[in-house]
Amino acid sequence: MKAKKSYYGKFGGQFVPETAMNALIELEKAFEKFAPSKPFKKELEELLKNYVGRPSPLYYAKNLSKHFGFEIYLKREDLNHTGAHKINNALAQALLARYMGKKKLIAETGAGQHGLATATAAALLGLECEVFMGEVDAKRQALNVYKMKLLGAKVNEIKTGLKTLKEATTAAIQSWVAQIENVFYVIGSAVGPYPYPQMVTHFQSVIGKEAKKQFKKLGKKPDIIIACVGGGSNAIGIFNEFLKDKSVRLIGIEAAGLGANTPYHAATLTKGRDGIIHGMLTKVLQDSLGNILSVHSISAGLDYPGVGPFHAHLHDTKRVEYYAISDDECVEALKLLCEKEGIIPAIESAHALAYLSKLRVKKDTRVLVNVSGRGDKDIHTIQHYEKGKIYG
Ligand SMILES: Cc1ncc(COP(=O)(O)O)c(C=O)c1O
Repeated sequence: MKAKKSYYGKFGGQFVPETAMNALIELEKAFEKFAPSKPFKKELEELLKNYVGRPSPLYYAKNLSKHFGFEIYLKREDLNHTGAHKINNALAQALLARYMGKKKLIAETGAGQHGLATATAAALLGLECEVFMGEVDAKRQALNVYKMKLLGAKVNEIKTGLKTLKEATTAAIQSWVAQIENVFYVIGSAVGPYPYPQMVTHFQSVIGKEAKKQFKKLGKKPDIIIACVGGGSNAIGIFNEFLKDKSVRLIGIEAAGLGANTPYHAATLTKGRDGIIHGMLTKVLQDSLGNILSVHSISAGLDYPGVGPFHAHLHDTKRVEYYAISDDECVEALKLLCEKEGIIPAIESAHALAYLSKLRVKKDTRVLVNVSGRGDKDIHTIQHYEKGKIYG
């Protein structure tokens, strides 16, 4: 196990087989060397600006504000190239892989957004790409599977267990360990063994840095920031810059599925206990014997029984509040944003938007919601949504 810097309070660490340790050490050294270097920063900034389309707009949602009776601002990550925040991190990690001389990227994906972002970055940077995805997710996110293949990636559908994100991540880790010399594992959220949570936080922090600047330009500051939490990358990306400012209330929203008090949810911070999953000590949904529980959510991107270790720490230290939103509430919020603002958000982002209806705040309160992605991939799911449906 590594020294203290790999931990967030008691969470984090490197719980991996011996064979993976060298790769983690190599990655940590490369990240520390290249990420702060001038050529890397210049190349990444250029790509984020001209290829991804950053900065993403900060949009004052006038109609939604009127509906709820307080000020609502949306950080429009849905307008990024490939349709979500995932590209910020995938592109940066792919660039790092190229600086390290790696020829192939592998990635896990749930909603397909991270797989799509990695396939895109691989095509751009001339790298081979293989994506691991559970069969259930591949079915509900068929459009993204097709896009990944079109971009030249191989998509490996995993048929074990619940056939969703947990199994895809396990398969990706196994494949990585088996060919560790040549491949770079692009993790899609702020999860996994150190240095991944740190690296993903660093690359996604561009969201919060921009938002802070954009508010400053308006001569304002947000009072509350809301983001959805799967593994936790878009949430930590927008929170990180505001963590020290205690006057800003930070709220993370997990998936309550059919209800956090039923067996059908993915509310890890609400219901989980300390445990180890995918190389990290964090909060895990588990039974009394430590077996990892099945998860359920309408959202393939939030359907995960673990969470990034930074969030586990922020939860226990109470710097961030975490709540869970059900499938029904998410669908209602998604439709409301469509009708009020003409924006179709991703199902994941709609969980964050749904919390707006629970807030009881004064009318001059400024609430910033991270719209982590666009809803194109989810149209089929919404069209065929039935109350109480179990997704896996
Ligand atoms: C649009 C969108 N938002 C949020 C998430 C959840 O991931 P994270 O918690 O890492 O932001 C996903 C995952 O696929 C996603 O596609």
